[in-house]
Amino acid sequence: MNAHAATPGGPGLPQERRLVTQIPGPASRELLARRQRSVARGVSHVLPVFVTAAGGGVLADADGNSLIDFGSGIAVASVGNSAQRVVDRVREQAGRFTHTCFMVNPYEEYVAVCEELARRTPGDHDKRSALFNSGAEAVENAVKIARHATGRQAVVAFDHAYHGRTNLTMALTAKNMPYKQGFGPFAGEIYRAPMAYPLRWPGGPAACAADALATVTGLIHAQVGEENVAAVIIEPIQGEGGFIVPPPGFLAGLAEFCRAHGIVFIADEIQSGFCRTGDWFACEHEGVVPDLITTAKGIAGGLPLAAVTGRAALMDSVHPGGLGGTYGGNPVACAAALGAIETMAEQDLAGRARRIGEIMLPRLRKLAETYPCIGDVRGRGAMTAIELVRPGSIDPDPDVTAAVARACHQAGLVVLTCGTFGNVLRFLPPLVIGDSLLEEGLSILEDAFAAQ
Ligand SMILES: Cc1ncc(COP(=O)(O)O)c(C=O)c1O
Repeated sequence: MNAHAATPGGPGLPQERRLVTQIPGPASRELLARRQRSVARGVSHVLPVFVTAAGGGVLADADGNSLIDFGSGIAVASVGNSAQRVVDRVREQAGRFTHTCFMVNPYEEYVAVCEELARRTPGDHDKRSALFNSGAEAVENAVKIARHATGRQAVVAFDHAYHGRTNLTMALTAKNMPYKQGFGPFAGEIYRAPMAYPLRWPGGPAACAADALATVTGLIHAQVGEENVAAVIIEPIQGEGGFIVPPPGFLAGLAEFCRAHGIVFIADEIQSGFCRTGDWFACEHEGVVPDLITTAKGIAGGLPLAAVTGRAALMDSVHPGGLGGTYGGNPVACAAALGAIETMAEQDLAGRARRIGEIMLPRLRKLAETYPCIGDVRGRGAMTAIELVRPGSIDPDPDVTAAVARACHQAGLVVLTCGTFGNVLRFLPPLVIGDSLLEEGLSILEDAFAAQ
């Protein structure tokens, strides 16, 4: 047991930033040295501060520092770390049984999560779900289901997409370094289309939705053939690729094209889902109803759980035994999900995400007026970002991005970067973060820009 095991986290953790050492401090540095002797180098860290407790909007470290969390462990701890209902449900479940394998002996908790998914995901059609362990596994299974249901093989993914690190999901992911470099050969029958990226669309933002849609559908027609396409997979707001928000109309047009050609439209809401963007799912913002939706991250308050949810006819096209895995829908993870979903509903965390956006976006836009290196401010709800460029151009500036992130880290604010060009600062605070911590985090960000 580690020396800090008795320090309680959760919502009771003092909601304050407190720096008592340099970041990282001596205890974290000692643990980092141990880590370097035992953990593979390929698994890296944004900030090597070893966490001992977390809750609300803060992370407490091994040196007694308390940091403001604008990352939520990459959009996972949306209900906050060690949220009360998650902890209660997990304790209760772990005390009864921890595993049977749903494929050997089923249990109610798995069914209850699938019922919640049917209720919460877009569309009121008949739905089925299957549960898995990670986002990548959910994406793999969505593609399996789409191929099986359609009898077709081709899958269309987008520039700047991120869908995971397994072999098929690496093939779907756009960015080479660090996700794909040296890991090929990749799965076949994956085709890449341009993303509707307003800042970087050659004809400008106003032309982006219509042009991008015409380009994508033209590419599918000319290079793949609609009748060969099993699925189009897209993140309604792209995550790792740069928090790219497609212009209104693009997603709906794409979904319509898919419907017209019997192509399964898969929305990967692994990062954008579960209240993050101010709706339960980002697709809802435009009234888009996907055929299949993949979820993970925020679904279970930090426990590993993922899902594919979709039209009953599609999901049930797969023969018994064709989907599953030893741990998929583990009962403790399902209990955590039920606690997390209950928390989101009761505390209206979608509404809270919208409020977070209302606080953050105006301050980020104001920052952009002061610093010409901020080329774009975008996002929705509690999924926001700024893209950094060389002033007077849209040339990406990953160096200043890294420098601002470093300055935030030193001041006790955990921020993440992303983007194909490494030039986007993204903000994913827990949805339960208080207004004053949120404002303090934004002030740290402003100071970090001022110091460049
Ligand atoms: C949109 C999206 N899809 C898939 C994944 C992969 O999820 P996991 O890391 O749980 O495999 C991620 C993870 O960041 C993601 O953001």
